[in-house]
Amino acid sequence: MAEAEDLKSSQYGFESRLPYHFQPLCARRNSGRMPGSQAEPRAMEKSQKSANSADSAQNPDQPILQATDSRTGRSYALPISDDTIPALALREIKVHEDDFGMLSFDPGLTNTVIGRSSICFIDGEKGILNYRGYPIESLAEHGTYLEIAWLVLHGELPTAAELDLFEAEIRAASVMPENIEKLIAALNPNMHPMSMLEVSLAALGGEFPEADDVHDPEVRHQQIIRLLALTPMLAAYGHRHRQGMGPIESKPELSYAGNFLHMLLGNQDREAAIPPALERALDALLILHAEHEQNCSANAVRAVGSSHVNPYSAVAAGAAALHGPLHGGANQAVLEMLEEINSIDDVPAFLESCKSGQRRLMGFGHRVYKNYDPRAKIIGQLAAGVFEIAGENPKLNIAQALEQTAIEDPYFRDRKLFPNVDFYSGLIYSAMGFQPSMFTVFFAVARMVGWLAHWDEMMSDPKNRIVRPRQIYTGYDRREWIPRNQR
Ligand code: CMC
Repeated sequence: MAEAEDLKSSQYGFESRLPYHFQPLCARRNSGRMPGSQAEPRAMEKSQKSANSADSAQNPDQPILQATDSRTGRSYALPISDDTIPALALREIKVHEDDFGMLSFDPGLTNTVIGRSSICFIDGEKGILNYRGYPIESLAEHGTYLEIAWLVLHGELPTAAELDLFEAEIRAASVMPENIEKLIAALNPNMHPMSMLEVSLAALGGEFPEADDVHDPEVRHQQIIRLLALTPMLAAYGHRHRQGMGPIESKPELSYAGNFLHMLLGNQDREAAIPPALERALDALLILHAEHEQNCSANAVRAVGSSHVNPYSAVAAGAAALHGPLHGGANQAVLEMLEEINSIDDVPAFLESCKSGQRRLMGFGHRVYKNYDPRAKIIGQLAAGVFEIAGENPKLNIAQALEQTAIEDPYFRDRKLFPNVDFYSGLIYSAMGFQPSMFTVFFAVARMVGWLAHWDEMMSDPKNRIVRPRQIYTGYDRREWIPRNQR
């Protein structure tokens, strides 16, 4: 009991943070054992007995995970809440009093919860994706991007007045700082458009120094509006610079997707060039990509934002994470893969190279979805509609052959690898006339609202702490300096 008392006031402050005190349940301490050695079975039995009795004496309703450390024979009751245990509770598990304590090992954070969030729900086994409780299928069918952006940010569908105000705020903020325009014009036009976006997002922070006040909710709101207004402009400026063309003015009276297409393509008579059905397809794609809980880029935004840097730097980090081919860059990689395959006859050989580990089938597989990515299903339907307008694309046939062959193949079936959001999206952007390098930029423009919602949620959470994981050090022990002439 005395030991339990000590732990209540431990340096980790469990008493105030945890719903139930983490308790070592066995008073028996085998301090003479080295890490990795085993406690004798009798001692384990004894430990278990005292664990149960101590537990019921504490709080019979508190679910606990009982764990016995075979190095010491001591048993522990780890409080379970929402099917998780607090990782810091592990730190009381020690062999020696002065040990650091146990850590959990989780490369890729595959099984680690980093916080509470009410923005997005995914059931990867069932293929369910909801933003704020609304199924993605319904949002893509009925919503407009800004309506869904408001929902993602505020938790409710906007009233007509709220949506009007939101749109007006974004219109008013659609003014590109001159320095940023000059910066983009000075970049190497061969630079990848995602690199251009990363650079220009970070540079925007310098134009709005008040954004450093990340603790003021009103200041945060202003930056959220600015980033939603300016990100498609940055994307369009970069795209046009790569084509040797200057930027053209935004037409904020158009829809968000329509204005984005206008700024990219710059047609005077935009409606003649872009059928409304394509504008609607882009709007749906933006909605489908708007948010996806703790993905790599959202996690990058959270990790960087947790240092209390301004949101422009945080979302620049998010864009950098998205750029990679295992994340948002997969849509570009899918198109390049389809170009390489070139013919349906080559599909089986290509899949064999994926199965033998020489390469990955891009646009397939997901950390969370072990079923069809619900976004991929909707995008598959959108693609068919877009091709009706833009004409048949032979790459669609290759993509469909790849999908059909892969989902029937035991390699992909056993690993639960299905098409993800990136499998068909590039074909639609391609039909709209964009180069593969632009595809991830579309993803970034869409995802900006998800990043910002996570950033704002995190900054509003008083329990937010700087993200700082641990490591298992595998390097040298302390070494003495070697003079240069003796190395
Ligand atoms: N092609 C072939 N094999 C694959 C693939 C793939 N696309 N994805 C996973 N596997 C295999 C992998 O080799 C491993 O096999 P084994 O168990 O024999 O070692 C098994 O499936 C599990 O893979 P993992 O790498 O442990 O899975 P992960 O959760 O770490 O990675 C992923 C998820 C999305 C990075 C991965 O599936 C992948 O690289 N897919 C291709 C890239 C892609 O399409 N990315 C877009 C993801 S969705 C949108 C987004 O997030 O932006």
